[in-house]
Amino acid sequence: MKIVTANASHFKYAPIICDTIAASALVRGTGIAKRTPEYIQKKLENGNAIIALEGQTFAGFCYIEVWSHEKFVAHSGLIVHPDFRNQGLAKKIKKAVLDLSLQKFPKAKIFGITTGLAVMKINYELGYKPVTFSELTTDPDFWKGCQTCKNFDVLTRTEQKMCLCTGMLYEKNVVKKSFNSKAFQRLKSIKEQLFLKKNKESQKASLSLNPGSKYMESAKQKMKK
Ligand SMILES: CC(C)(COP(=O)(O)OP(=O)(O)OC[C@H]1O[C@@H](n2cnc3c(N)ncnc32)[C@H](O)[C@@H]1OP(=O)(O)O)[C@@H](O)C(=O)NCCC(=O)NCCS
Repeated sequence: MKIVTANASHFKYAPIICDTIAASALVRGTGIAKRTPEYIQKKLENGNAIIALEGQTFAGFCYIEVWSHEKFVAHSGLIVHPDFRNQGLAKKIKKAVLDLSLQKFPKAKIFGITTGLAVMKINYELGYKPVTFSELTTDPDFWKGCQTCKNFDVLTRTEQKMCLCTGMLYEKNVVKKSFNSKAFQRLKSIKEQLFLKKNKESQKASLSLNPGSKYMESAKQKMKK
C-alpha cells in the first residue's frame, strides 16, 4: 500500500473519491458537503491531500482545508474504500495528513469536528483533545459546510455553540492516553437526547395518542423540565 501526498498525476482518481464519499454518506444517513471532482482536483494540484493506492487501485483519501487566513486548518473528506476498511488504513492516512499539515502550515491550529467514533479515536490517539466550538475557527465558510448536515438545525438553535459533533483540537507534545470509547459514546447519546428535536416531537406525538394516562402525565412533566 502506497500512502503519498497527492498531485496532478492523481487527477484520474477524483471521480472515484467523490463517488465513494457520496456512497458512504448515503449508507451512514448523514448529510454531506457535496464535493465535485473539480474541487478534489484542486486539492490534488495544491499538494493539500493524501491518497492511498494499492497498485493502481484507489484505497483511501483525505485533504486539508485552510480557514481564517491559515490560522486554522482542518482535515476533511476522510474516506477509506469499503474493500480496504478495518486494516488500520484510516489511521495511517490521518497521520500522513497531520504530518503534511504540520509541515505546510506550522503556525496553524489543527482541528476537526466529527460524530464518527472511529475518527474521534484516531484523532485522540494522534494528540487531539476535545474542545468547545468557541476554540475553533469562526470563519463563516467553515460553518457553512454544516448546512448540508441533517443536524444543522441543532447548530442554529445553539447559536453555533454546540452540536452533535465533537470539536477536537490538535495539541503538540500531548501525553497520549488511551481512548475511552464508552465516554465518547455516552457524550454522543446525551447530546442526542438533549438536541434531537425529532425525539421530543415523536414523544409529543405519542403523548397526544394516549392523553391523560399516568405514564403520559409524568412524561409530559419530564418534557416540560
Ligand atoms: C471511518 C473510516 C474512515 C475508518 O476507516 P478504517 O480504515 O476502516 O479505520 P481503521 O482501520 O484505521 O480504524 C481505526 C480505529 O477505529 C476503529 N473503527 C473503525 N471503524 C469504526 C466504526 N465504524 N465505529 C467505531 N470504531 C471504528 C477501529 O477499530 C480502529 O480502532 P483500534 O485501533 O482500536 O483497532 C471508514 O470506515 C470510512 O471511510 N467510512 C465512511 C466515511 C467516514 O465515515 N468518514 C469519516 C467522516 S468524519
